[in-house]
Amino acid sequence: MTHFTPHCQETLFLSPSDVAGLVRSQGMAATLDGLEAYIRQDFSRWSRFDKSARLASHSPDGVIELMPIADGAHYSFKYVNGHPKNTSQGLPTVMAFGVLADVSTGMPMLVSELTLATALRTAATSVLAARALARPESRVMALIGNGAQSEFQALAFHRLLGIDEIRLYDTDAAATAKLVRNLQDNPDTAGLRLRACASSLEAVRDADIVTTLTADKTQAAIITAGMLRPGTHLNAVGGDCPGKTEIHPEVLAAAKVFVEYEPQTRVEGDLQQMPAGFAVTELWQVLAGQATGRDSAAQVTVFDSVGFALEDFSALRYLYDQARRLGLGRALPLIPRLDDPKDLYQLVRPALSGACAAPSAGAHAKPVAEPLLN
Ligand SMILES: NC(=O)c1ccc[n+]([C@@H]2O[C@H](COP(=O)([O-])OP(=O)(O)OC[C@H]3O[C@@H](n4cnc5c(N)ncnc54)[C@H](O)[C@@H]3O)[C@@H](O)[C@H]2O)c1
Repeated sequence: MTHFTPHCQETLFLSPSDVAGLVRSQGMAATLDGLEAYIRQDFSRWSRFDKSARLASHSPDGVIELMPIADGAHYSFKYVNGHPKNTSQGLPTVMAFGVLADVSTGMPMLVSELTLATALRTAATSVLAARALARPESRVMALIGNGAQSEFQALAFHRLLGIDEIRLYDTDAAATAKLVRNLQDNPDTAGLRLRACASSLEAVRDADIVTTLTADKTQAAIITAGMLRPGTHLNAVGGDCPGKTEIHPEVLAAAKVFVEYEPQTRVEGDLQQMPAGFAVTELWQVLAGQATGRDSAAQVTVFDSVGFALEDFSALRYLYDQARRLGLGRALPLIPRLDDPKDLYQLVRPALSGACAAPSAGAHAKPVAEPLLN
C-alpha cells in the first residue's frame, strides 16, 4: 500500500492497483454505494456546472473522447476511448484516465486511472437511474453483453437495488462463462441466482430490468419491439457513439426515455435514431423532483446512458476523498515547484564552471515530494 501526504502544491496519483485497493479495503458494495451518493449529490447541483457535450475524435475502429466539466470549485476531464475490436488484441474496449483540478489556482490535485473507475461509476449511475425509474418490486434483470463492465453492473444491481436473479447473454459464450466464474462463490453475491441464456430473447423474457452492455460499432437492434413486457426498465448502456446503437427505434418510440445530458445523448445515444423533436427527460430533473419518472406500472422506461462528464467529476471527487482518508496513492511530480514562481528558467539554466557558477536546476528548484515507499 502506498501513502500520500497531501500538500496544496502536490498532485496525487492513483494507479489501477490503488483504485482496486480502495475497493478491496472498503468493499464493493460500500464503494458503489458511496459513488452513487456522490453522483446523486452532483446531479442535484446540476445548474452549478459548466456543461458541454464531450469532444469526440472518431476513427474507423473506435473513438477517443475528452470529457470536461467544472463547478465553481473544481474542474475535471476524462480521457476515454471505445474500440470494440480491442479485446482481440489483448486491450480493453474502454480505457480511461482523468484529472481533478482546483479552479482557484488551476493546480491539478489528482491524476487517476479511470478504466476501473468508469466501470464502477457507470454501474452506480445505472442504479441511480433505476432507483428512480424502475418498478420498486423489480427482482429479475437480464444482462446482455457480458464483457468488462458486466460484473460491476451485476453487483451494483444486486447489492444496491435488490436484484436477486440475473439472466445472462453474450454472443461470446466465453464472456458469459467468465462473468459466471467471477460472480460465483463471491461473498458479494450471496443469494444471487445466475442463469446463462441461449439468446437475448430468452434472457429478456419476464425480466423486470434489462441492461444492455454490448460493444459493436454498428447500428444493432439487440432489443426489438415486442421483446419487453409492460413495466420493464431498460438500462441501455452500450449504445454510446454515433453509428453504435442497441435499441430498435420502435422500442424508444413506445417508451418514456430518460437521458443524462440531452445535447450529448441526441448525438451519441440510441436517441440518435429518433427525430429531433422526440421528447426526453433529463435524469437530474427526476432526481430534483422537477419531472416525473415512470407514469404507470405498465410503462416501459429507458435510461439511454452514454456516460456524462459529471459522473466522472463525481468519481474523481470520491476517489480523492477516499484515497486521502485511507492514505492511498503517491505524489506525482507533475508540476515544477520553484523558489521563485516567475523563474521557470531555473529548471534549465546551464551549470557554469568556477566559483560563481549558478546553482544547478536541481539545487534551485524545490524537489517535488518523492513518492513514498510501498
Ligand atoms: N454509458 C456509459 O456510461 C458507458 C460506460 C462504459 C462503457 N460503455 C459501453 O458499454 C459497452 C460494453 O463495454 P465493455 O467495456 O463491457 O466492452 P467489452 O468489449 O468488454 O464487452 C462487450 C461484450 O458485448 C458482447 N456483444 C457484442 N455484440 C453483442 C450482441 N449483439 N449480443 C450480445 N452480446 C454482444 C461482446 O461479445 C462482449 O463480450 C461498450 O459499448 C461501451 O462503449 C458505456
